[in-house]
Amino acid sequence: MTETVLLVGGGGREHAIARSLADDTDLYACASNRNPGIARLAEGVEQLDETDPEAVVAYAESVDADLAVVGPEAPLAAGVADALDDAGVYAFGPHAEQARIETDKAFQRRFMREEGIPGCPDFETFDDVEAACEYLDDYDGDLAVKPAGLTGGKGVRVTGDQVTKEEAKAYLRESGHDRIVLEERLVGEEFTVQAFVANGDLQISPAVQDHKRAYEGDEGPNTGGMGSYSDADFALPFMTDEDSDEDYGEAVSILEATVDALDDYKGVLYGQFMLTAEGVKVVEFNARFGDPEAMNTLPVLETDLVDVLVAAREGEPLPELVFSAEATVCKYAVPAGYPEDPEGGVKVSVDEDSVGEALLFYASVDERDDGIYTTTSRSFAVVGVADTIAEAEEIAEGTLSAVGDGLRVRHDIGTEDLLQRRLDHVAELRG
Ligand code: AMP
Ligand code: GLY
Repeated sequence: MTETVLLVGGGGREHAIARSLADDTDLYACASNRNPGIARLAEGVEQLDETDPEAVVAYAESVDADLAVVGPEAPLAAGVADALDDAGVYAFGPHAEQARIETDKAFQRRFMREEGIPGCPDFETFDDVEAACEYLDDYDGDLAVKPAGLTGGKGVRVTGDQVTKEEAKAYLRESGHDRIVLEERLVGEEFTVQAFVANGDLQISPAVQDHKRAYEGDEGPNTGGMGSYSDADFALPFMTDEDSDEDYGEAVSILEATVDALDDYKGVLYGQFMLTAEGVKVVEFNARFGDPEAMNTLPVLETDLVDVLVAAREGEPLPELVFSAEATVCKYAVPAGYPEDPEGGVKVSVDEDSVGEALLFYASVDERDDGIYTTTSRSFAVVGVADTIAEAEEIAEGTLSAVGDGLRVRHDIGTEDLLQRRLDHVAELRG
C-alpha cells in the first residue's frame, strides 16, 4: 500500500525531507510559504499557517494522510503533532510537551540535571532580567546568555566571544526576554548528531558540522546556519574515529540517556554538541532535523525514509539505518545583508538544470510568473555528495559561481583550510 504522507514546513530541510519521500509515497505538503522545490515533488501543496493545528489537521484530513512529518520547531511548539495524532494521523514529531527539550532551554537544562544526563554545563535559570545581570557581574568567567524560548537560532550571546558582559546585559535589557538561562561558556568544536526516535528505539545518523556565523572565518552574528558538512563515516575529521567510545560515541551515549529519560519521545532528537578539552558537552537539543543538517544526512540515507515512519507508527522497532559511505558539503546562498539587514527581491539564477551533479534545495524564496526571487531569509542551498569532503566541496562550489549579485555564500565551508583549522583547534584543546 502506498502511504499518503503530509509534510509540514517549507524550508530547505523540508525540501530534503520531500526528496526522500516523494518516490515512495503520495506526498502532500503544507507550509506558511510556497517552496517551489517541494511543490514540484508533491501531489498537492497548501499555503496555510503552519502553526495553526486546526488548519494543518483540516488539510491532512482533506488529503486522507496516514502519516505526517513535522519539519520545523514552531509547529511542534504550537501542538501540531498533538493535534494530528488526536485526529488519527500519526505525526513523526514530538508533542508540544516533549518538544520542550528544544522550546524551553530552562526546562532542557533542569531536565538534564534531574535525570543525570552527562554533558550538562553548569547553569542557572532566571525569571528576571536584573537578577540575570547581577549574576553576570558576579560570575568569574565567561557565560553563554540564552533566552529560554525559541529565537530561530539567533538568540544566544556568548561573553568573551561575541560580546562583552556589558553588551550582554544591554542585550538582555533591550530584548524583552524575561526567562533566561546563563551557563558556563564551552570552548571547543561543535558538531550535530541527529537520531530517529520512536517506541523507545533510537537510530543514529552521521555527525555534521554546521556553520552558524554569518561570515567566512566564523566572523559576524549567528544565523540559522550558513552550511554544513559530513564525512564518509559517522565521525568528522577532527574527531576520534566512529568506533571509539570518545567523541561520536560519547554523543550517542548522551542521546541514548536522553531518550531513556524522556517519556515516549517520537520524531528526531537533534543533539548539538561541543567537543571540549573535558570531553563532549551538550550545547542544546532540538526536537527536529537540523536545517541545514538534514540536507547532509538525508541524501546519504539509503534506507527508505517512509519505512522508518511506518515502523514508528506501527509501534515496531525502527529499521536499522543504512547510509552510503559518502561525504557531503552543503552551502546556503543567503540574501545580501542577512541576517541583520537582509535585502530580498533578487531573481535567483541557479536552478535544477544549472546545478549539474549537485543537489538544490530551496528555502525562503518567492516563485513568481517570471522566476524565483529571494526573500529576507536563507534562499537556497546546494549540496555536493562524493567520496571525500574535498570532492563534495568542489561539486557544491561548482554551482555557486552562478549565484549572481544580491546573494552571499560562505565559500570557506568544507574547504581544506577550514578543516585544518578545526583539526588544529582540537589538537590544541587536547594538548
Ligand atoms: P543554541 O541556540 O543553544 O544552539 O546556541 C546557538 C549557538 O550559541 C551555538 O551553536 C553555540 O555556537 C553558541 N552557544 C550556545 N551555548 C553555548 C555555551 N554554553 N558555550 C559556548 N557557546 C554556546
Ligand atoms: N542548524 C541549526 C538548527 O537547525 O537549529
